[in-house]
Amino acid sequence: MSAQARSRLAEIVDGHRIVVCAGSGGVGKTTTAATLALWGALRGRRAIVLTIDPARRLADSLGVGPIGNTPCQVEPEALGSLGAPTSGTLTAMMLDQKGSWDELVSRHAPSEDVRDNILANTFYRQLSQSFAGSQEYMAVEQLGELDACGRYDLIIVDTPPTQHAIDFLEAPDRLLAFLDKKIVRWFVRPGFTAGWSTLQTMNKTVGFLLRKIEDATGVVALGQVTDFFGSMGELFDGFEERVERVTALLRDPTTAFVLVAGPGEQVLGQVDYLASQMAERQMPLKGVIMNRVHELLSGVEADERSTEGVAAAIASPVRRALEAAEVDASPQEVATQLAANLVAWQARARGDALRTEIFRGGLPPGVPLVQVPDLPSDIHDLAGLASLHGFLFGAVD
Ligand SMILES: Nc1ncnc2c1ncn2[C@@H]1O[C@H](COP(=O)(O)OP(=O)(O)OP(=O)(O)O)[C@@H](O)[C@H]1O
Ligand SMILES: [Mg+2]
Repeated sequence: MSAQARSRLAEIVDGHRIVVCAGSGGVGKTTTAATLALWGALRGRRAIVLTIDPARRLADSLGVGPIGNTPCQVEPEALGSLGAPTSGTLTAMMLDQKGSWDELVSRHAPSEDVRDNILANTFYRQLSQSFAGSQEYMAVEQLGELDACGRYDLIIVDTPPTQHAIDFLEAPDRLLAFLDKKIVRWFVRPGFTAGWSTLQTMNKTVGFLLRKIEDATGVVALGQVTDFFGSMGELFDGFEERVERVTALLRDPTTAFVLVAGPGEQVLGQVDYLASQMAERQMPLKGVIMNRVHELLSGVEADERSTEGVAAAIASPVRRALEAAEVDASPQEVATQLAANLVAWQARARGDALRTEIFRGGLPPGVPLVQVPDLPSDIHDLAGLASLHGFLFGAVD
């Protein structure tokens, strides 16, 4: 069953051009994205991982620095040292999270004047800092560029830490809703000079529009909105088209969404919801990677639910070990502590296994779930990433 799931996952990665690693924060998305890209490179593909805020040591081994968002190719020798020679390449690129809206505006502004007006606008500055989804949107925008440049045949997308896996998928739609032409027209109407507060009391429609903008942006002080929309007017057409293009890219059959989850998460209870939301967006869930699963230790010769029972069972080896190491400690206390630790680990492992099974049961038919154990140390270099391939894809050739 699990061997089958692993080879299914391998088929999914091998059979798609874009793989988006979605999932809530801290579950190992960045690590997973990097390891999937490495897998592609080792199988001869020109792979790139669009990564977000990788841990320092992982960033170093991928060759991406803390600033800048230019693609960096991993040295072919470093790839070669992992085993079979490959004609594939591995490139990493860090999503620049700071100033990304500015960059977008600069890129699309029809003139320097328009650009400067927008960048100097107070509303814009607030908006660009607080618009929920700007990171998600920028990741999608960047994905569009990597796709268009034609240099890669496998693009793995790490997604920004969000509370819910679905947030990432909603970003383009939310931006489109925000840029809704009907709304824009309200603000860019020639001769429209009414102040914000007048506008607010004008009628229900306007009240609705304001709430829509406030919902999308979280910005309440909207003093310079009219100006902003005036300057932005010329950008909207371009934006809308672009958003539609990247949304289409996300919905393309060559794009796969893989959920990275942890066995302790709340999201585990919501898999039906998540899967149906993804299907509704025509971005179906293709596979699940359950990361950092605590595995049940075998060979415990006592009732592993009882600290006293385990402590009694290990009392004499603990005493001998302490004597041999000439450690002055109470064997009984040490045995009790070790036993408590083991009992807690086993309880957690049983919980992980149970939650994983419930989760698996709620998955749409045919969606594979693979498990990666919680490894004793961090994964921060290429060899560490490669060591995950066996868990993810089964036998590695
Ligand atoms: N299976 C594993 N076993 C042990 N350590 C792991 C495993 N997977 C990931 N880690 C470690 O967990 C830490 C967090 O992983 P990672 O940065 O990939 O998470 P993330 O989901 O991207 O987090 P964030 O949401 O904050 O971006 C890293 O130090 C990584 O090395
Ligand atoms: Mg991350």
